[in-house]
Amino acid sequence: MIFSGKIWVMSEPSREPRNVGEPQNIYDDPKFFAGYSTLERFGAGWNRAMEHAELLGLLPDVGGRRVLDLGCGGGQLAHHLATRGAAEVTGVDVSERMLALARAEFAHPRVTYTRAALEDVEFAESRFDLIVSVLAFHYVDDYAGLLRRIARWLAPGGILVYSTEHPIYTARLPGEGWVVGEAGRRTGWSLDRYAEEGAREERWFVPGVRKVHRMLATLINGVLDAGLVLERLVEPMPGEQWLRDHPQAADERRRPMFLLVRARKA
Ligand SMILES: C[S@@+](CC[C@H](N)C(=O)[O-])C[C@H]1O[C@@H](n2cnc3c(N)ncnc32)[C@H](O)[C@@H]1O
Repeated sequence: MIFSGKIWVMSEPSREPRNVGEPQNIYDDPKFFAGYSTLERFGAGWNRAMEHAELLGLLPDVGGRRVLDLGCGGGQLAHHLATRGAAEVTGVDVSERMLALARAEFAHPRVTYTRAALEDVEFAESRFDLIVSVLAFHYVDDYAGLLRRIARWLAPGGILVYSTEHPIYTARLPGEGWVVGEAGRRTGWSLDRYAEEGAREERWFVPGVRKVHRMLATLINGVLDAGLVLERLVEPMPGEQWLRDHPQAADERRRPMFLLVRARKA
């Protein structure tokens, strides 16, 4: 592992040179996309994701609301919210491949899909009543700045619901993160350099996938410093039925993988 500038390289070198603050857009890499599209949660399988029910449980009644989905990917959630009565949904994503899927399979008359990076996109003040984001914030360097912009885009009383990879997951040692003992048994979860925030690269279908590690306090204080009121934190764990359906994933209860946050603009 090497430390180069601000980026920890966990295994193999980066696939594409980039500057800190610029989006990597790994989802448009054909090899990455081919791997990602094999995941159960891809496309129509989105509702079988482990944290699906708890994420939906954080959403308010969306009837008549103006919604923004940041990192909307294949558009499943944007489409779902439109079918639940949202007045309009704007889905933003940097990946043309993901947006092509959204436009082909999750189109809806009240959903607009827009290609933009979360780092650059701008909206008018008080433009939305609900902002959602599923597993996209850990790709963004300037989390505090993004939260301040989100707070501006929300109308008074508006809600933010987002999920991100959990700090205990992003601070793992290189590789899968499990400590493996004799006979290949997983004896524990490895966590290192917790306080060293910033980008770390991992192999996920391809080498050099870049995600940003932040401490729990940084994630929460980013919400508070943006002037939002924190309403709920969830560390989703698989339920019994999900584990029966996914017996190979029994270790998912041994450490959190995701963090879900709900906040309100006063
Ligand atoms: C794990 S996928 C989740 C997609 C979708 N939210 C879902 O739940 O299926 C992460 C998404 O974030 C998008 N993304 C990553 N970095 C981004 C950035 N800087 N700006 C906009 N979108 C980004 C990716 O292209 C990808 O579609």
